[in-house]
Amino acid sequence: MSQISALETSALDTRVPALLRELEGKSIVESLTLLAAEFEGQIAFSSSLGIEDQLITHYIFENNLPIRVFSLDTGRLFNETYTLLHKTNQHYGKNIEVFFPQHEAVERLVTEKGTLSFYNSIENRKECCYIRKVEPLKRALQGVKLWVTGIRAEQSDARHDLQLLEWDPGFQTIKYNPLLDWSFEGVREAVKELHIPYNPLHDKGFVSIGCAPCTRAIAEGEDFRAGRWWWESNSKKECGLHAR
Ligand code: ADX
Ligand code: SF4
Repeated sequence: MSQISALETSALDTRVPALLRELEGKSIVESLTLLAAEFEGQIAFSSSLGIEDQLITHYIFENNLPIRVFSLDTGRLFNETYTLLHKTNQHYGKNIEVFFPQHEAVERLVTEKGTLSFYNSIENRKECCYIRKVEPLKRALQGVKLWVTGIRAEQSDARHDLQLLEWDPGFQTIKYNPLLDWSFEGVREAVKELHIPYNPLHDKGFVSIGCAPCTRAIAEGEDFRAGRWWWESNSKKECGLHAR
């Protein structure tokens, strides 16, 4: 996979307004098709296998779009998520690319701090997220100029001001969030209508699903991300994948 030079990168962010204009009035599939052509071989979608991501995976796989689909296996996912990965590959006859954390880093972390260090402090939690998610994401995004995500604005206050298409200075890519304005119910309906496989935990109060020890179901009326890192009251509830 090619590396992107600093010169190329600096020119990349200036393309956002023109691309936004090109996407105006287009459906998600039309937009993905256009972006796949513009960023041939340099476009990838990160899937957590959450319900939003299953819908995007469907659009990509069903239409044979030339977009890499990858998932970060932190080693701490729910059994239901691993089963869903298997089912999704079978359903579409395709393989989602999987990235693991660096084994030396995980071995050091667990040896020195144990298996539950993330409950002890925000610093420890961020360390685990960095090792298990952020570093693998950096590798997965090498050579990628257009990064597709399943983020929705409604998911948290911090995500309200995100844009459909925006420059991500941290990962030095243009980020495309096609479901930005969708509601959870809208996504759920589309997934059911299209018979897309999804995580059964979504039917048990788990709206946002991450690692098993750091995700719980939410009660009615609770904030969408209340089930993620619920023991932290004063953090932004972000793991570093979507930093801004
Ligand atoms: S997180 O930062 O809190 O974990 P969230 O679960 O809301 O993120 O998912 C938002 C988007 O981040 C997903 O739609 C997906 O694009 C990406 N993402 C999150 N977790 C993963 C993962 N394990 N593998 C690949 N992409 C992921
Ligand atoms: Fe570690 Fe929890 Fe972050 Fe997963 S969500 S990487 S287990 S701290």
